[in-house]
Amino acid sequence: MVIYRVRVFDTPDNPFTGGRLRSASDIALVVDDGLITSRTDFDTARSTHPDAEVVDLRDGVLIPGLVDTHVHLPQVRAIGHLGRPLLDWLDQCALPEEAKLGEPAYAEAVAGEFLTGLISAGTTSAMVFGSHFATAMDIFFAAAEQSGLRITSGLVTSDRNLPDALLTDVERSLEESQGLIDRWHGKGRLRYAVTPRFSFSAGPEMLAAGGRLVAQNPGIWVTSHLNENRDEISGVAQIHPEAIDYLDTYDRAGLVGRRTVLAHNVHPQDRELARMAEAGAVAAHCPTSNSALASGFFPLRRHVEAGVRVALGSDVGAGTGFNLFKEGVQSYFMQQLDPAGGVALTSAHLLHLATAAGAEALELDEVGVLSEGKRFDAVLIRPAEGQPLDVGIRHAADDADALATIFAMGTPADIAEVWIDGCPTHP
Ligand code: GUN
Ligand code: ZN
Repeated sequence: MVIYRVRVFDTPDNPFTGGRLRSASDIALVVDDGLITSRTDFDTARSTHPDAEVVDLRDGVLIPGLVDTHVHLPQVRAIGHLGRPLLDWLDQCALPEEAKLGEPAYAEAVAGEFLTGLISAGTTSAMVFGSHFATAMDIFFAAAEQSGLRITSGLVTSDRNLPDALLTDVERSLEESQGLIDRWHGKGRLRYAVTPRFSFSAGPEMLAAGGRLVAQNPGIWVTSHLNENRDEISGVAQIHPEAIDYLDTYDRAGLVGRRTVLAHNVHPQDRELARMAEAGAVAAHCPTSNSALASGFFPLRRHVEAGVRVALGSDVGAGTGFNLFKEGVQSYFMQQLDPAGGVALTSAHLLHLATAAGAEALELDEVGVLSEGKRFDAVLIRPAEGQPLDVGIRHAADDADALATIFAMGTPADIAEVWIDGCPTHP
């Protein structure tokens, strides 16, 4: 048992429905075997557990472990290309790199780099867009299990419009996916997600095969892309004349439900938003990617008003890195600038999108806030003394301003410690 004496920020009450930042400058979190057994004042914790180890973290700010709902495993070496829209960027930057994961030694190296990227950024849970190669996925799941991270991921499937090395067929995709599900889904903190790349590279049969896997394996997840770029959307309409819109390509295959996470949705139609809300599907909002690929302004207000669940994704490698503080502040920028009228986001909204909303989106009820009864997934932000972020936190007018400063300036260099399920986790 450990008593963590902390300054802590979290968002148990959703700011999108009137909740405010919960902050405390000096409280105790009592953690027993990874479980927060009590959140109370320090003197009470001390007298109730006189023999417990005390760890004083009040020189930093503790927040819940960050949750990245959209991040690509095979793109860690492809971060930072600028100046191309989606389909051109895929052809020239992402897909040639992804083809290299056909080589197991390469996949092994990338898996390690990717997990280092997540943990260094304070990300403790993620929906990971996988590789097109089953062997690379076995390698990744094994490394992810070792890391302790809460990872949901799966084999990416496509049967058209990509380089040959990345294509598969229905039979092979079913066999490889089922093997991966049998080996990894539910093992430790791992879960499986059926992952058609997008309806631009997967025809109706390939999508339907994914739906069959979902029907036959209750509890598995679905992830893909949706309405990211206008050329992509036109292409999808040509490939899927049977569908009434982009979302419907997935829906008619049985791929849209509460365990479905769809990235981007920058250009949705009202019907799609209504259907996502009805099904409980999640939009993974990826602001630096939307900016880097000039995909457009994410219509956050329309999602919120339609009742669609939204959480944050880094979308490495179209996104510019693993740092969810950067995604948060970029979301704020884009909402400020959106000519259609964005949502005025506060620092509490940003923290919520990066933690509790992500945990809810991935149905990780055990994490996302630092309350009694939750598992201790946490990040300690403690910038080096005298650095601008340290100065900013110390001179902030209030806790909401201190949190805004963290989103404005925080980087992995400012993360002093990360815990998953109570265990210190190092990259
Ligand atoms: N759509 C299909 N594949 C991708 C990808 O790798 N990145 C992004 N941003 N969009 C995609
Ligand atoms: Zn993506």
